[in-house]
Amino acid sequence: MLAVAVLAAGKGTRMKSDLPKVLQPLAGATLVERVLASCQRLDPARQLLVVGHQAERVQASLAARPELEYVLQQPQNGTGHAVQQLLEPLAGFAGELLVLNGDVPLLREQTLEHLLERHRASGAAVTLLTARLADPTGYGRVIADDTGTVSAIVEHRDCTPEQRTINLINAGIYCFDWARLAEVLPKLRSDNDQGELYLTDTVALLGSAIHLEVADADEINGINDRLQLSQCEAVLQQRLREHWMREGVTFVDPASCSLSDGTRFGRDVIVEPQSHFRGSNQIGDGCRIGPGSLLDNAQLGTGVTVLFSVVNGAQVGDRCAIGPYSQLRPGTRLEADCRVGNFVEIKNSHLDAGCKANHLSYIGDADLGQGVNVGAGTITANYDGVHKHRTLIGSGSKTGANSTLVAPLSLGTGVTVGAGSVITQDVAAGALALGRARQVVKENWPGPA
Ligand code: UD1
Ligand code: MG
Repeated sequence: MLAVAVLAAGKGTRMKSDLPKVLQPLAGATLVERVLASCQRLDPARQLLVVGHQAERVQASLAARPELEYVLQQPQNGTGHAVQQLLEPLAGFAGELLVLNGDVPLLREQTLEHLLERHRASGAAVTLLTARLADPTGYGRVIADDTGTVSAIVEHRDCTPEQRTINLINAGIYCFDWARLAEVLPKLRSDNDQGELYLTDTVALLGSAIHLEVADADEINGINDRLQLSQCEAVLQQRLREHWMREGVTFVDPASCSLSDGTRFGRDVIVEPQSHFRGSNQIGDGCRIGPGSLLDNAQLGTGVTVLFSVVNGAQVGDRCAIGPYSQLRPGTRLEADCRVGNFVEIKNSHLDAGCKANHLSYIGDADLGQGVNVGAGTITANYDGVHKHRTLIGSGSKTGANSTLVAPLSLGTGVTVGAGSVITQDVAAGALALGRARQVVKENWPGPA
């Protein structure tokens, strides 16, 4: 039987942030979400989260996961003290305890599976993950022999100059035999530089420890400050881009683009420079995104182009062309073959197939039938200062340049709106609507003196 404990009670002083460290975001997910995700394949019987600093905020962020058990550590007196808090909730538990640091977010599921297998096969009291780093500064150093047996872990700040030259480091990920750990936990002492109880000291107390070195040292990057946060972001972004390139996506300038875990691409998508994907996106086959675009919870059909534009919470049908410089906001749905161009903003609106809004418009809370041509500068005046109202435009209608459509308003099919009109009353199918001052011409006007 397996229990997992994630240590997430620390303040993260070195982040210099109001946010608890484990809630810092990395490619769209918090550190603690990523750590929890890394162990789901192991199907743990229990999942405990040790919380302390801003515990309520951490718990609230995970409210959608009822399987988590919270264990409060107050005050936070070190990683050993954190695990001591499990003595009560795990009393009588028989099996392994996998301890994960809440600030080590890049672990692969396979690595943890491997760790567990190795631990079960060896019969050691603890198996810990290690890595060899060119620059081990800040990490606990692992004192091990050639057979992989570990005698102690010494924190960076407690190391002798000689120990500091050891480049085998503790990743902060351990698989313990819980019953044996429970026996030594009460024996921890705080006679170290920080005056804290260190979980790492259990290794020497247990007297039966081995380590497993990870092949890819990037996996065990711990995050203690903003520099390490940005380094982990870079690792994650590189993983995501490589994955999608292998799946048939072209990135013209990969390093200039960022992705989220929730973004899915079809085949033969081309992502041009400076394009960014956040939240969950579905990008259909043959789309061309960028340069310079932001997609945030967007759903694109096939063959869509998005050029220098923002698509946020919108659905875009096959072969639509967006941009340059368009913004599609939440609740927007475009059917196939629509064209949205320069400086056009669309919000909470449905455009049926083949609509065109090519220049300088705001379309908000509107429903457009098929093939509507929205003239340059057409604005739906949807807000009366208190309420939002809808505008309906029947299929095949055309609005002239600089029309203002004051909602609530309904235009029938095949309506023409004259340029410069302010339309406040419904218009029947097939009619021409004009709402503007008639042009006056005075002959032989003397002009300026
Ligand atoms: C720890 C290890 C170090 C290892 C490194 C890997 C110890 C003593 N040291 O150091 O050997 O190389 O991780 O990244 O364990 N936490 C609590 N309660 C506390 C203190 C910390 O829950 O009282 C949590 C933190 O929220 C964090 C994790 O434990 O998620 C690690 O704490 P941190 O202070 O970052 O330890 P490191 O100095 O990085
Ligand atoms: Mg740390």
